[in-house]
Amino acid sequence: MNAIQIDGKAIAGALRASVARDVALLKAECNVSPGLAVVLVGDDPASSVYVKTKAKQATAAGIRSQQFGLPNDVSEAELLNLIDDLNADDAIDGILVQLPLPGHINGGRVLEAIDPKKDVDGFHPYNVGRLAIGRPALAPCTPLGVMHLIKTVVSDLNGLDVLVIGRSNIVGKPLAVLLGDAGCTVTAAQIQTRKLGELCRKADIVVAAAGCAGLVRGDWLKRGAVVIDVGINRAIDSDGDAKLVGDVAFAEASKRASHITPVPGGVGPMTVAYLLSNTVSAAVWRRGLSLKVSHPVHHIRPLNHREGVRAG
Ligand code: GUN
Repeated sequence: MNAIQIDGKAIAGALRASVARDVALLKAECNVSPGLAVVLVGDDPASSVYVKTKAKQATAAGIRSQQFGLPNDVSEAELLNLIDDLNADDAIDGILVQLPLPGHINGGRVLEAIDPKKDVDGFHPYNVGRLAIGRPALAPCTPLGVMHLIKTVVSDLNGLDVLVIGRSNIVGKPLAVLLGDAGCTVTAAQIQTRKLGELCRKADIVVAAAGCAGLVRGDWLKRGAVVIDVGINRAIDSDGDAKLVGDVAFAEASKRASHITPVPGGVGPMTVAYLLSNTVSAAVWRRGLSLKVSHPVHHIRPLNHREGVRAG
């Protein structure tokens, strides 16, 4: 059996198109035009590419996008001043500070300075806490993207066993909450987990988000498992060329899984699409608006502009 590849690029494209329709609806019904501020400190090449992609796709969806590039040696106070200005700016609905930040800046302090209602990354403790207790919240983009991909191939998540490998604040921890809310029995593992392969063999769905190239082997998988690979690792192929690989040994895993995401072209595009979705959610939430549905709902617990969210 060869697994069916889950086409994250196409699914993200459809989501971005639905966000663009919601942006148009928001303008037509409420005269609101969502604005996103993307802040990049320093000139890390990978971060620069991510930030450009985010800004470009926001603009394509009709979201007003502003980029703020700060030098690597900017002081924490200067960065906090910029965030204060963006918090106070009524034309800005979403604020994203690209991570990682340089070592002299306290990342936690910076993320906590962002107005939680403009926190389109869902990293502020206010949103983290509300997500954990089932209150409307802006949820992190990658876990929302993973949930969406899973739901394209699994119609009923209730009662399924899911192994999440990796316990980061950005992916593993919030994803475990979302999966639990969807009725899954979630095992939160990490690289150090003993007998990871044995745990993996019991899982109906495996999400690899450990940042370790090729960690999940083909013979770790139950036949017919759904495999979502969040890893993005740089590797050198047999011709000596640089390439991106995931946390899953893709060729082996494809022989056992029923569905699998490729790297690149799986989870990555979904993260950016949900940033756009969260920007619309934030615009709706902050203003206490209710937006009529233009597209089916994909995520359950988190704040969802398509359900019409009221400030709570
Ligand atoms: N760096 C890597 N992933 C992310 C993300 O999802 N958001 C931000 N702000 N920075 C990141």
